[in-house]
Amino acid sequence: MNFKGKTVWITGASSGIGRAVAIELSLKKLHLILSGRKENALNEVAEICHKNGSTTRVVPFDLGDENSIREAAKTVLEQESKIDGLYHFGGISQRSFVSETPLSVDLKIFEVNFFGTIALTKMVLPTMIKNGGAQIGVTTSIVGKFGIPYRSSYSATKQALHGFFESLRAENVSNNISVSMIIPGRIKTNISINAIGKDGKSHSKMDEGQGAGMEVEKAAKIIVRKLQKERKEILLGGSELIMVHIRRFFPRLYYYLSSRVKPL
Ligand SMILES: NC(=O)c1ccc[n+]([C@@H]2O[C@H](COP(=O)([O-])OP(=O)(O)OC[C@H]3O[C@@H](n4cnc5c(N)ncnc54)[C@H](OP(=O)(O)O)[C@@H]3O)[C@@H](O)[C@H]2O)c1
Repeated sequence: MNFKGKTVWITGASSGIGRAVAIELSLKKLHLILSGRKENALNEVAEICHKNGSTTRVVPFDLGDENSIREAAKTVLEQESKIDGLYHFGGISQRSFVSETPLSVDLKIFEVNFFGTIALTKMVLPTMIKNGGAQIGVTTSIVGKFGIPYRSSYSATKQALHGFFESLRAENVSNNISVSMIIPGRIKTNISINAIGKDGKSHSKMDEGQGAGMEVEKAAKIIVRKLQKERKEILLGGSELIMVHIRRFFPRLYYYLSSRVKPL
């Protein structure tokens, strides 16, 4: 997609990868709708995007609250004539063992990562189809391709997103809806700090592996370049990406290695 003059809605735009992608995209001089819960952080991103020559609309909402999503979608669809791209970056990670995690925590992670993401998509899709097509970008994770310790529901939400959006893509080829699955390995953001533990509270720690991840600005450049090419899968990160190939081609090695991953 040629971004110039287009309208793109980005969730998770207040922090990390979504923020960096919004700023990188703003150099292409387009109209950005910026969402997340933290309005102040979104306004700061909007200011940077303006300086880069783009226009913005800040629409804060909570992915874990269906009414909040509905309100946001209503506001945007009433005020914008067309949505050319909907890029989902909003999400939370997890740091807890299955045996110690109450179902309420699993439900919370599913509400935000899976149900919030599909709810917004379902509210916007009919307009996209009516307008002749659009692009949807969905951020999953390499643990959307396999499971590792300490990430049970996080991994499950990301795998669920693959299933959901592959079906959506197959159903909507003739409607000119393209779907790009964005699959990061480790990117240096606050994801581990914001991850929730067995008590539902923030992990509040920059994990070692996370801190050593790819710089977020570099990640954003790769994502924008590949979104422009409408790639169906955008895999990015460092040496950890090898696990995706090991899981696919050497499953027995994956079973062994995954049981030895340190719970961090
Ligand atoms: N960093 C990595 O290594 C990595 C690897 C694989 C996948 N990912 C995925 O990449 C995406 C972005 O994560 P990140 O690394 O950029 O982490 P981050 O810095 O923690 O950003 C997460 C974003 O999600 C938003 N968000 C969280 N809960 C929300 C809610 N209830 N309602 C609305 N927005 C919510 C946050 O905004 P507010 O706080 O303003 O609500 C924030 O903008 C996530 O889907 C994550 O799973 C990241």
